Amino acid sequence: MLKKSENFFRDSLIDAIKKRNVRIAVLGAGYVGLPTAALFAEAGFDVTAADIKAGIIEKVNQGVSPISEPGLTELIARNVRLGKLRAEFVSEVTFSNVDVAVITVQTPIGENKEPDLSFLINALMSVGSGLKKKSLVTLCSTVPPGTLHGKAKPLLESLSGLKAESDFFLAYVPERIAPGNAIKEYIEGPRLAGGVGSHSTKVAAILFRTVCKKIVETEAQTAEVSKTAENTFRDVNIAFANQLALICEQHGADITKVIALANTHPRVNIHTPGPGVGGPCLTKDPYLLIHGTEFNGKNVVKASREVNDYMPHHLVKLVFRGLQAAGKCVDSCQIAVLGTAYKANIDDPRVSPSEPIVHELLASGANLTVFDPYCTEYFGAKRAGSLSGSLKGSDCLMIVTDHSEFKNLSLSEVKELMNSNPVIVDGKRIFNPAEAESLGFAYYGVGYGKLASSAAQAAKIAKKSVSVENRRETPLVEPLGKPARKQLQPIPVKLKQKQRQPQTPNALNPL
Ligand SMILES: NC(=O)c1ccc[n+]([C@@H]2O[C@H](COP(=O)([O-])OP(=O)(O)OC[C@H]3O[C@@H](n4cnc5c(N)ncnc54)[C@H](O)[C@@H]3O)[C@@H](O)[C@H]2O)c1
Repeated sequence: MLKKSENFFRDSLIDAIKKRNVRIAVLGAGYVGLPTAALFAEAGFDVTAADIKAGIIEKVNQGVSPISEPGLTELIARNVRLGKLRAEFVSEVTFSNVDVAVITVQTPIGENKEPDLSFLINALMSVGSGLKKKSLVTLCSTVPPGTLHGKAKPLLESLSGLKAESDFFLAYVPERIAPGNAIKEYIEGPRLAGGVGSHSTKVAAILFRTVCKKIVETEAQTAEVSKTAENTFRDVNIAFANQLALICEQHGADITKVIALANTHPRVNIHTPGPGVGGPCLTKDPYLLIHGTEFNGKNVVKASREVNDYMPHHLVKLVFRGLQAAGKCVDSCQIAVLGTAYKANIDDPRVSPSEPIVHELLASGANLTVFDPYCTEYFGAKRAGSLSGSLKGSDCLMIVTDHSEFKNLSLSEVKELMNSNPVIVDGKRIFNPAEAESLGFAYYGVGYGKLASSAAQAAKIAKKSVSVENRRETPLVEPLGKPARKQLQPIPVKLKQKQRQPQTPNALNPL
């Protein structure tokens, strides 16, 4: 039997939500918080986006999005103009006037791969100290399972002196959006809502149905495990694809063909290998999922993280292997690294595989330029002024991000810009290996294994004075494990540089 007061608070809050008569504070105006705040304002609510960074607050109040996300600036501009949305320092928000607090702060992992919940705890403390009866708190940040019942509920209850489910409501509504398509994905859902009790679930589901088309109701602990399981599944699947790529390299098979064929099986869906896994979510959520759990030493989640973290080092090895096979010295070569964003067509460099790749190349004394048409991060390397500028006079072209601009490159035009005996290291498998090899590139791609005969052909194309015996001393693929610190010693054969003709304008020019 429900207590009368529980029904009353729940029903009157639901009624106020339906009439758009509630004030919402979104704590954390970042990649998740800004679309959240802007979409609730668009749905007719009075919204404050609360953050700790002055720059973010200033920009939002000017009607400008501090992050690049299609459609977001328009939403922010319109709702700031209409007075439905404003940004404030979290310390200046009066939480006793707030009916709904939505927490979207970052939940990173530390050096030790343990969750750092300090931002979340600070946000909960801000909310808890002013928490009023008949209010709702939702957590949208990704959290280790157990956080709602084990941390958020006791903290809010002790700070406010109120009881969850009877005085206030508390639910987990995890976010699934992907940068670059955030607004559409936010609206289209589906999305989970799991409360610390059934009243909390109901209120949170009704609130989020005002902005999301499909909300699936569950309990907090189920939502917590489901959210972290989703990204962990993808990370483990990518790790399998990466492991398979390394196997293909050793067997002279091509991973792209292998996956295409294996995926014709109706119950198989192998993901795509690459230069590693990037972004703030896939690289972290697996550690949140396994936090505080025991596996007697067997842990597929952790092992998968390690496989994916190994891949940037594997890419660097392909560069050295390619240059060595082309008879070039690493320290007298120019390497063009294309891509610093962690995925295609966005400007976000967080936890990008490009970072360890650039750092390892720099540490080995390589000369490199980095180019990304979207991202302003260069990880301490020299930035090329343009795509063609990065390719001009380079010996090795390395693909780390599959931006459209790179996928659309004409290999024959690329060849014209690069030095003789050019090497391609294709971390995203965006080029056709046969086309690249027929044009005279030495092509190295993740999971692109070559049989001994085709390797010998490649050696002929390179017209170099390195004996096949020498190359055989370099294993095709090092076994997985702790990345070897020792770098391959380049064979000190210097090639005469091709005399360049003046460039005629083409897709890659003006230079
Ligand atoms: N970015 C995504 O696409 C995505 C997708 C799904 C889930 N998530 C999860 O959502 C959460 C937020 O991610 P994000 O990418 O938006 O992070 P973010 O770093 O872009 O934004 C977090 C914001 O919170 C602010 N902040 C920190 N402490 C605060 C406090 N006490 N009060 C108010 N503001 C505070 C920060 O200044 C920052 O602006 C994370 O848990 C993440 O794992 C992110």
